[in-house]
Order: sequence, then C-alpha cells, then structure tokens
Amino acid sequence: MTAVSSTANTESHASVLHENRVFPPSAAYLAQTTLNADTFAQLKREADLDLDAFWSHRARELLTWEKPFTQGLDETQAPFYQWFADGTLNVSFNCLDRHLGTQPDKVALIAEADDGSAEYITYQTLYERVCLFANGLKSLGVVAGDRVIIYMPMVANAVVAMQACARLGAIHSVVFGGFSSKSLAERIIDAEAKVVITANIGYRGGKPIELKKTVDEAVAQSNNLVEHVVVWARDQTETIMQARDIWWHDLTAQQTTDCPPVWVSAEHPLFILYTSGSTGKPKGVQHSSAGYLLGALQSFKWTFDQQPNDVFWCTADVGWITGHSYVAYGPLAAGATQVVFEGVPTFPDASRFWQMIEKHKVSIFYTAPTAIRSLIKLGADLPAKHDLSSLRLLGSVGEPINPEAWIWYYNVVGGGRCPIVDTWWQTETGSQMLTPLPGAVATKPGSCAFPLPGLSINILDEALHPTAPREAGTLVIERPFPSMVRTLWRDPERFKTAYFPEEFGGRYVAGDSAMRDEDGYFWILGRTDDVLNVSGHRLGTMEIESALVANPLVAEAAVVGRPDEVTGEAVVAFVTLKGERPTGDAALEMIKTLKAFVGQEIGAIARPADIRFSDALPKTRSGKIMRRLLRSIARGDAITQDISTLENPAIIKQLQEG
Ligand code: PRX
Repeated sequence: MTAVSSTANTESHASVLHENRVFPPSAAYLAQTTLNADTFAQLKREADLDLDAFWSHRARELLTWEKPFTQGLDETQAPFYQWFADGTLNVSFNCLDRHLGTQPDKVALIAEADDGSAEYITYQTLYERVCLFANGLKSLGVVAGDRVIIYMPMVANAVVAMQACARLGAIHSVVFGGFSSKSLAERIIDAEAKVVITANIGYRGGKPIELKKTVDEAVAQSNNLVEHVVVWARDQTETIMQARDIWWHDLTAQQTTDCPPVWVSAEHPLFILYTSGSTGKPKGVQHSSAGYLLGALQSFKWTFDQQPNDVFWCTADVGWITGHSYVAYGPLAAGATQVVFEGVPTFPDASRFWQMIEKHKVSIFYTAPTAIRSLIKLGADLPAKHDLSSLRLLGSVGEPINPEAWIWYYNVVGGGRCPIVDTWWQTETGSQMLTPLPGAVATKPGSCAFPLPGLSINILDEALHPTAPREAGTLVIERPFPSMVRTLWRDPERFKTAYFPEEFGGRYVAGDSAMRDEDGYFWILGRTDDVLNVSGHRLGTMEIESALVANPLVAEAAVVGRPDEVTGEAVVAFVTLKGERPTGDAALEMIKTLKAFVGQEIGAIARPADIRFSDALPKTRSGKIMRRLLRSIARGDAITQDISTLENPAIIKQLQEG
C-alpha cells in the first residue's frame, strides 16, 4: 500500500498526516492523577507475558461472580472465542447491588431533561427502580434469553430498562429513537422480540418525538411477534393505548423493590446492537455478559482515570454502543456519578453543554467531534462565558477528530490543562481499544495514540507485514480480548466472513485503514469498506441505496460520502429515475421527496445531504458502478481516474451538474 491508500475516506483526513504538535500531560493534571506511565508499562508487561492470566486477573479483581470461573480464554471454537465461560454472574448486580453496602446515597445519575429540569438518582434509588421494573417485566412473562427492544428517549428510565433486562438475563436491543418505524420493525423481526419498551413521547431541542406512534407502526409490521408494549409516560401527552400496551407506572405499581438477580453464564448474551455493515442488512452485534462488562469497566477506569468525586458525562445516546458502554454499564459498574442528558447541544442555544458542565460540575466530558465542530461554528466564544474549571479530562469518540477542532477543544474548553483522550473503538469491540492514557502519554491532535493494555492491535500491508511509519494499512486486532463481539445474531457465517476474512489469517479486521508515525502513535484514516461515518454514526451505503430504490420512481441509486466540515462525512446519492431526468424546480421537488423517503425508510440520520440525477450511472463495460469516480464528482474534484472503460462518458457532465 502507498502512504495514502485508495480507501473511501482517507483523503478527507489528510490534515492529520502533517500534524506534529505534541502535548504532554500538564503539571496540574499530573498532580492529581492516580495512573502514570509506570503503571501502564507494568500492565503491558504483564499482558505480554500471559494474556489469559492478565485478563483473568482483571476479571477476578473487578467483577463480582456468583460462581468463579476456572478458565479464562477458550479458543477451541475460534473465531467464536469465549472468556470465563464456566463462571456465573449478573451484570445488573455488578452495576448496582454491590455498591449498596458502600455508597447507597451516592448519586448515580444526574438526569437532565430537554427543558433543563434535573433529577438526582442515588445508587439505592436506581437499584429500587430497576428492581421494580424488572419485576414488572417478569410479570409479563419475560425470562432469561428473551429479546426486549428498547426504543426510548435518552432519559434515566432508558438506563433503568436496560439494567432491568440485564437483571433478568433478558437480551436487550436498544434502537436509537431517531430510527424509522421500518428500521424498528426490521430489528423487532430479526431479534424476534417479545416486548418493546418505549415512551409516549420524547423531546429533543424542544421538539416532540412521537416514539409511541412509531412503535405502533413498527409493531403492525412485525408479524404479531410483540406480545407487550410498555409505555413510559414522559408527560401528559394524549396517547392511544391498545390491548397489548401497558403503562410503565401500572406495570410497576404492584411490584416490590426486591428482585433477585438471575445468575447467568459469563457468555450469556447481554445485548444485541444493530449496526451498519457493507451490505443492505444491518448486523446484529451480539455481546457477552462478563467479557463485555469487564471491557467497559476496565477501560472506563483506565481511560478516564476515574476518581471517587468525579462527575462523568458521556453525551452519547444509549441507542449507540458508546451509550451502552459508557453510560448504561461502565460508569455504573465503577460506582461513578454521571450526567444523563435528554436533549441536544444546541438547545436552547449553543452554550447548553458549557452551561451544564458548570451547573453539574462535570470533571470528565466525553463527546463526539461533530458536536465540537458544530459548537465551534455556532459560538466559539461561548465556553469562555462559563466556569469550566471543574473539568480535568476531555474525551472524543466516534470519528476522526481534525486537529483544528482538537486544539479548540483543548484550549477553549479544557483551558489547556485537560488531556484529551481520543478513543478509537467500534460497536463490535464493545470497549475502547486505542487511546492516549491521560497522565501516561503525551497527546498528538488527531491521534488515538496506543492500544490499551491487553490488546494487540496492528496495521498490516497486503502481505500481512506491519506497515512502515506513515504508511497506511489495514487495522487488525491480532489476539482475542474479553469485550469483543461474540457473533452476529443468528448469522455466524456472516460473523466469520465480515470480521475474520481468510486472507488475514484469523485476525479480527476492523474495517478501518490507519497508519503509525515514527513514535508508534496510531492515526485512523477512515473506513476501508462501504460504510460512511456521518456525525459519528455508521451508515452503510448499500442500506441507503436499498432505501432509495424502494421508491417506485427510482430505477437505480449509488451512494458515496464526501467530506463535511461539521458532520465529518455527508451522504451524496446519485439517482436515475424510471421516468425522465428532472431538471429545475421539478428536480428540487424530487430531491425533497427522496430525502423524506429515506428518512421514512431508515431514519433522519440517513437522509442524503445531496442528490444528483442522471440518465444512467457510470459503469464499466462489465457493469460495475464506478464508485471512485462518483466520490470525485461528489467532492467536486477534477476527474483523474481512467474513464476509458466507462460505457457512457457523456453522463459525467450530467452528474457534475446535478
Ligand atoms: O471508523 C471508525 C470510527 O467509527 C467506526 C465505528 O463505529 P461504531 O461502531 O458506530 O462505533 C462508534 C463509537 C465507538 C470505526 O470503525 N471511529 C470510532 N472512533 C474513532 C473513529 N475514527 C477515528 N477516531 C476515533 N476516535
């Protein structure tokens, strides 16, 4: 491979290739950290010596077991790895019960609603709310192994619902509240869910989100699979209830606050989370109980150097993996205090995050580059108007952070004293993989630095040799680790081919290209497959193409990404219609129609930013769509590709003009 590979998204992050600033941890940070370079060097040595013993040691130290395990890693069914398989435990017990003896009155959740009202929920209260609700689910017949879909706003009860499922050993699948009824129905059907948990309504940025209505539409499309819909009354909004629906408050009214945890085996599935891959059908990423929790908890403690008085705030929604590992599970297992926020960073104005950091004295703040970029655009001077002195550590996740946004985050939000942990990981890895460890590693803007202890991550060329410094290659994980995806829900074949392709000799292939610099720091360059990253959300180009061609007017569609200043990447769709190619106002009208259609098919996050019409799509004589050419056109770049094999060169002009 060459220094900048021909992957889909590499070119958009070219600025990191020239970045050479280095920020050692500040004296202020070092004065209060409990972890330093020696701690991690020692941990790394331990892991290098015996990986199995390393993780087994952590699993015994950090998790509470009902029955201790006798074996750490089991590779006999590779790549279906197992960890701690003969041990039993309960994830909710590990997140709640075990803190009751030591810190029942510590605040677990500071739940701030869209309208700014806040609720403070202690570990004792959270435990009681989880038990009440788990007993309610039990009364509906939910037992270990049943699938429960959670389609909720980002409120404390979303966490309660997840924890209640974990308490019963029921497998939850959280669906982000922005997904359409069709996407929701697909997930209900694939998971064969018995119960759906929702709210009558949600609010984001002052706007109501009609969750219950969407659930009704989805359940109607779901082959009578769903037996019950539990509805949390977010407010008094009038709601049509059907025979299968039950209010959350009615379900819990007669229950007790005592719900013994159901002990499950370490490998029992804790949840399924659907994510986009390179085919049209989302993948049901299945995670384990013990290994997953260990990864979430241990990384939380290392990366965020968690201390007893910290107030942690991860702004991710529980509909994504970040909201699972660093809202619903990791921080609770660690006994931390955290903020849970229903709303958006720009409502009522672009100082919402800064105002909340000041109000709740947040010390660790973890957000996505898209949020940072949009807040720079809408009010770069706003952080200075707030007291952000409680912050001691900042984090970034979900997409590459460009050095300019990093520097602003560091200076303007962090006051030059807070390290930034830029964490690379995935839905499939369950927990953070690459990150600078604050206090131990000097940071470089745009680099995710190094693997956490116990992880063997490499960048390989096509001959499977580690790439030379500054040479791009394929990011792989060489050895199994506890929090890794166990399989794809009811699709073990796809699991094998998607993540362990033969040509990589049993290694986990992440789907990203990356490079290392002369100091060994990792730099993520972008996806190598047909997956886009829009505002930190994964979208499969084929998923969007399938949505477009589902419209009776559309003959063919090809979707690519182009760099976007705020969202990282934006979706561009090239479409041919069954009828005439529209121009002028008719084209504008058609663009509106198709954008709305994709919104209905998948959800608003997948709506193309740009749609172009042509009489045909550019194809080679063998009929393959020329995607690299489309990417150049989407970016407005000069066409440098060889178009001699193009069947119909005249359409390039049409595509460029839109
Ligand atoms: O391309 C990488 C990008 O997001 C992908 C994973 O997406 P998802 O499973 O939705 O999980 C997002 C939250 C963990 C990766 O394959 N990605 C994630 N974090 C970073 C990143 N790219 C660059 N830098 C990051 N810190």
